[in-house]
Amino acid sequence: MKTIGALIWEPGTRSGWSVEEIEIDPPKSREVRVKLAASGICHSDDHVDTGDIPLPWAPIIGGHEGAGIIEEVGPDVTGFEVGDHVVLSFLPSCGQCQMCTIGRSNMCERGAGVLSGFAPDGTHRVHARGQGVGPFSYLGTFSPYVVVNIDSCVKIGKDIPLDKAALIGCGVPTGWGSSVYAAEVNLGETVVIVGTGGVGMNAVQGARHKGAKDIITIDPVPFKRDQAKLFGATHTVENYEQAADLVASLTNGQGADKVIITVDIAYGHLLNPAQEMVRRGGTLVLTSAAPVTQRDVPFDLFTFAMSGKRLQGTLYGTTTARRDIPLIADMYRRGEYKLDELVTKTYELEQINEAIADMREGKNIRGVIMYDL
Ligand SMILES: NC(=O)c1ccc[n+]([C@@H]2O[C@H](COP(=O)([O-])OP(=O)(O)OC[C@H]3O[C@@H](n4cnc5c(N)ncnc54)[C@H](O)[C@@H]3O)[C@@H](O)[C@H]2O)c1
Ligand SMILES: [Zn+2]
Ligand SMILES: [Zn+2]
Repeated sequence: MKTIGALIWEPGTRSGWSVEEIEIDPPKSREVRVKLAASGICHSDDHVDTGDIPLPWAPIIGGHEGAGIIEEVGPDVTGFEVGDHVVLSFLPSCGQCQMCTIGRSNMCERGAGVLSGFAPDGTHRVHARGQGVGPFSYLGTFSPYVVVNIDSCVKIGKDIPLDKAALIGCGVPTGWGSSVYAAEVNLGETVVIVGTGGVGMNAVQGARHKGAKDIITIDPVPFKRDQAKLFGATHTVENYEQAADLVASLTNGQGADKVIITVDIAYGHLLNPAQEMVRRGGTLVLTSAAPVTQRDVPFDLFTFAMSGKRLQGTLYGTTTARRDIPLIADMYRRGEYKLDELVTKTYELEQINEAIADMREGKNIRGVIMYDL
């Protein structure tokens, strides 16, 4: 079928997204075609254009935060049918590999291929200007239609608004799980969240769910500091210096139990001031993507070791998609999870470059591209 998509032809050059005609093949074995309601715009999409995440293929169709309705089912599909509402998970979970079977599907072996530039079977489903187009994260939600493997689909209830559910495909579980699973926030703790965009606001919600006493957010953008309170922040500050003073006064000089980094780009210099705020025996979580060439990280190794701190990386907030996506949808249904408030502005696909510019300027918690469903 013919439709449109937002493509990057020269990754890493900041050339921006080209919205143009694409051709999408019918679903093959274990694949479905999904008509999307919306796609969130995550900072990871921008890393492809800036080159912080250099992808060795082009063209690329971006977008990895989508939800919609299955409208065609390929051969060998079980468990899904036409009309099902699905969230597209930015990492697949095959349910078969070792990590999937022990409940750690964010480490699914198939996930290792999401930046391969192909569908999981090594071929292309999308074509433009006569060439195969590589999807970001096996998805490519910067198009009203996607053909994806069922390993990337998670069913949700038909009462959940799909344009909000789209965000549960990446930013929401990544942030929420950064607090709940990666940092293992506990009742009564003091937690610092560094950077409160689409991911960080969900880390705030996760810390609140786990009963943190103090939730301190750091963000240089006043709008983000105002909004963080809505999601559960107890204190909002502009920078590390202010946070360090506040943490010291709130914890009698002991430090924060957990510090979680969810800034847009994880430069090396951001780690040590975060570590310094962590109490003895506490945990520093790094969720943000760093430029892949980043190697220099000034770090007080002596204090880190001698005070028994933990540095924890996290992919997808250490969540298990088939458990946590429906769980978050259910919390939303019960009024215990804020999804509506995450969407600052909606756009047409043709406005993708404006939407990315707004994200870079810190104007949105999440910008969302809406499709006609
Ligand atoms: N680990 C994963 O699985 C995973 C998944 C999704 C996204 N990510 C990464 O998470 C990061 C955040 O993504 P996002 O979509 O929330 O980005 P975003 O642009 O929506 O939010 C980033 C926020 O960080 C703030 N910020 C920038 N510099 C700061 C600083 N020095 N101190 C405090 N705040 C600062 C910005 O003002 C903004 O509010 C990105 O690096 C993204 O690639 C990782
Ligand atoms: Zn993402
Ligand atoms: Zn697996």
